[in-house]
Amino acid sequence: MRVTIAGSSGLIGTALVQALRADGHTAVRLVRRPAEHADEVQWSPDRALDPSVLDGSDAVVNLCGASLGDRRWSGAYKQELRNSRVEPTEVLAEAAARAGVPVMISGSAVGYYGDTGDAKVDENTPAGDGFLADLCRDWEAAAATAADGGVRVVNIRTALVLASNGGILSRLLPLYKFVLGGRLGDGCQYFPWISLTDHIRAVRFLLDNDDLSGPVNLTGPAPVTNREFNAVMARVVGRPAPWIVPGFMLKALVGEFADEAILSGQRAIPAKLERAGFNFEHNTLREALEAELRHRQ
Ligand SMILES: NC(=O)c1ccc[n+]([C@@H]2O[C@H](COP(=O)([O-])OP(=O)(O)OC[C@H]3O[C@@H](n4cnc5c(N)ncnc54)[C@H](OP(=O)(O)O)[C@@H]3O)[C@@H](O)[C@H]2O)c1
Repeated sequence: MRVTIAGSSGLIGTALVQALRADGHTAVRLVRRPAEHADEVQWSPDRALDPSVLDGSDAVVNLCGASLGDRRWSGAYKQELRNSRVEPTEVLAEAAARAGVPVMISGSAVGYYGDTGDAKVDENTPAGDGFLADLCRDWEAAAATAADGGVRVVNIRTALVLASNGGILSRLLPLYKFVLGGRLGDGCQYFPWISLTDHIRAVRFLLDNDDLSGPVNLTGPAPVTNREFNAVMARVVGRPAPWIVPGFMLKALVGEFADEAILSGQRAIPAKLERAGFNFEHNTLREALEAELRHRQ
């Protein structure tokens, strides 16, 4: 299988490229800098992509996006968060349709649902409110050109990806190790999660499974509240996590990001994956954390 991947230098992309190559597939990386290796093609995510770049590709995977938590959300940064997702998706969708690529796996996030309290949400739940929900809706809509052109498009509504070597865990682990871990706000907000191992397995399942299209939640089967997340982290790291970080303090520290992504959440369940027979390697948060920490040792 020949898979062309955009955003391949990130946490998920790096692992996906490795996994595909380990199984003898060809991963072509679209890079924003000049290409340096035979398997790289330079592109500009804000300019049309020559469809011939995708000739022979069995799939396109779109993992582009500026990091949500790196900076305070100014108006300009929110525009960058949006542009870095919507524009590349439009460009890739157009090229995939013109090149006749059979399938496009395109990024999205559980933020699509907004803040859903403790109600369970699956792929049939409508979009919620807020900046992230609007962004995810536009991000998914940006792939419509591909679907209209006959490409099987899957929008992967991804939860927090737990990995030993990056993402949220690499930020949280040092805090928990130094007994600085704790509950955020009232701790009732849901933290949907998925292990990086299962995320990559799910993407590959979606590449192979012609029956699946449209939105698919890439979340572990047992989302937890922030209170539970804190307790399991403390147990797995082997240190107490006694602190409570009040919501007002988080808002003062990180602004709107606190309301949108830390103090709110989604009890998102992977209904479509489970119906399609996908088996998670890590069914509980504890299993996922223990496995990722073993990789780190
Ligand atoms: N990790 C999570 O917990 C999580 C959760 C929900 C959704 N997601 C989404 O899944 C996708 C991949 O996640 P990730 O964790 O692998 O992200 P990541 O490590 O931040 O990597 C994202 C990649 O996007 C590309 N990129 C960065 N800034 C860009 C810009 N301004 N314009 C276009 N491309 C840009 C870069 O790849 P190149 O330099 O190779 O172009 C970067 O390596 C992202 O869209 C993210 O929002 C991730």
